[in-house]
Amino acid sequence: MKRIAVLASGQGTNLEAILKAAKSGEIAGRVELVISDRRKARALEIARRWGVKALFINPADYRDRNTYDAAVVEELQRAAIDLVVLAGFMRLLSAPFVRQYPLRIMNIHPSLLPAFPGTNGVEQALAYGVKVTGCTVHFVDEGLDSGPVILQEAVPVLPDDTVETLHQRIHAVEYRLYPRAIDLFCRDKLIVEGRRCLIVD
Ligand code: GAR
Repeated sequence: MKRIAVLASGQGTNLEAILKAAKSGEIAGRVELVISDRRKARALEIARRWGVKALFINPADYRDRNTYDAAVVEELQRAAIDLVVLAGFMRLLSAPFVRQYPLRIMNIHPSLLPAFPGTNGVEQALAYGVKVTGCTVHFVDEGLDSGPVILQEAVPVLPDDTVETLHQRIHAVEYRLYPRAIDLFCRDKLIVEGRRCLIVD
């Protein structure tokens, strides 16, 4: 069984979908640890409710991103984590963090990357006026939302969509896509060749 840590800053609805999928056996791995950079993140409450160790690591206690990330990595290593899952974790990881876990950190982003990277992918898609957006699960590299794509799924933009209604439909897709990508990793079904991530049978 692969050992999974989830890093989350916010609502934690993806975290909850992942916990459910792991519990029902849809993910061949166990969520051992949840870490947040926000004391009040609902993700921490959800983790505790599911009996998973939940840690708040306060960025204000560290002088810069590298020292903060080193503290996070220390916890990940202490828990012998195989896969780091970013689920609405709103901090860019430092290069040393990424290098500690090559092709072992995943992120979910609410757009069809490489379109609309960054913090507000849904707003950007709506403002641009695209007819189709979606979500992307990708491996994390040292850039911003730029690592190899694992899974993507399209979501149509409707004429009367607001950021909220569109994000809600994207979320619904994320709750299916992320557990699937995590399960593929846990069953050693992902092979990365350059920028391409292949799914093997
Ligand atoms: C998700 O929609 C995720 O795609 C997005 O934050 C949301 C977190 O929701 N992530 C990003 O925008 C990363 N750049 P959740 O906390 O309810 O899972």
